[in-house]
Order: sequence, then C-alpha cells, then structure tokens
Amino acid sequence: MARNLATPTEAELGGPRSVLVMQRRDHQRLDRLLQRVAATAGAERQETLTALCRLVFPHAFAEEAVLWPLLRRVLPDGHELTLRVEQEHQEINELFTELETTEPDTPAYEELLERITALLRADVRDEEDILLPRLQQVAGVGTLRRVGLAWMVVRRTAPTRPHPVVARRPPGNSLAALPLSPLDRSRDRLDQLSRRAPGRIARGCGRVSRALAATAGVVEHLPPLRRGEDPSTRA
Ligand SMILES: [Fe+2]
Ligand SMILES: [Fe+2]
Repeated sequence: MARNLATPTEAELGGPRSVLVMQRRDHQRLDRLLQRVAATAGAERQETLTALCRLVFPHAFAEEAVLWPLLRRVLPDGHELTLRVEQEHQEINELFTELETTEPDTPAYEELLERITALLRADVRDEEDILLPRLQQVAGVGTLRRVGLAWMVVRRTAPTRPHPVVARRPPGNSLAALPLSPLDRSRDRLDQLSRRAPGRIARGCGRVSRALAATAGVVEHLPPLRRGEDPSTRA
C-alpha cells in the first residue's frame, strides 16, 4: 500500500484504468501547464491558461461528483477530509472568476495567478498525500477501476469553466452539469473559432459566446443547483 502517489509503479496503484493512476497522470499534466504559464507571456500564456482550465475544472468537478461522495461513505473522517479539498476547489473557482475580469499581465493579474498556482499545488498534495492513499487503503483494485471509469466519464462531460455559485456537492453540482456543460463547451468552441477566424466571423462568435456566458450566469443562480453544499465550503 502506498504512503503517497508520487513513487509507486502503475501496477502498484491498480494499473492504467485505476482512478489513482488517472489522477496522477492529470496532476503531472497540470504541473507541466503551470510551469508553462510561469514561463510564457501574451497570447501563448493565454492559450496555456485556456488549456489549464479545460483540465482543472472537469477534473475537479468529477472529483466532487464521484470521488468525494465515495470517500464520505467509506471513511469515518471522510466529511472533514473532503470538506478541506472542496474549500480549496471553491477558492480556485472564485479566483479564476476574478482572473477572467482582470487585465492580463498587470500586478493584480500576476498576484491572482500566484495564488491560483499555490492553491492548485496544495490541492494536488492533499489528494496525493492524504485522500487518495486513504482510498487505496479501503478499496480493492476492482473498485479503483470501477471508480476510475465513472470518474473519467464525468470528467469528459463536465463543465469546463469556473462556477463558484453552484454547490461543490451533489445533488446541486450534478444538476448543474446538465445545463452548464453544453454552455461551457459551446463557448470553448466559439472562443477557439473567434481566435482563428477572420474579422466578421470572429466578432459573431464573440457575441454568441458572451450571450452564452450571460445565460450560464443566470442558470447557475437557480436554487436547485446550490443544494447539498456544506455551508462552510465558502469563506
Ligand atoms: Fe485531483
Ligand atoms: Fe482537486
């Protein structure tokens, strides 16, 4: 049994389909993206930040929908352990929302990025050093693979942008995925098009993307999407 996820082989963690191996792979990709964000500027940095969001938000959403509810069921201290990472996720959602409306490459922007980077690294350490080894203590290889499949299915269909208003727990977050995932993913495609298409098409894509953002802003305030939250998740 591993003390943390840093050194064991894939076989020791349950093989390539184990949720532990999938988590470690995403965390390694996150580390590479954070290094690239720190080393780049301008358009290249913005592209890297977009890739970072497309990794971070579906990854965390699937943890909140699949993994943390399981830990609360199987560990006596699951509530306290998962509340801590939900608080980290909530703060990351709030900081990214603030980053979206801050002028890039200003001191305020750099400070936000530093706080986001520190929080993302702390979240990975909490998961790899504490939560996931505890899951490995109580779950056999079959469970780790079944959970891995469920986590990956949700990760591939989850919202891709920060949504600090919705619950970090089911049923609110699961309900939120139904309207917010297609809205986020449509905006991702439109924003990509608007960066590459010529003038008029780019402006049209930008207008539709902003309209979808406004729709998401209304939808995420619906009361059912806040159900299940522990009140202390928010500072
Ligand atoms: Fe993770
Ligand atoms: Fe996380």
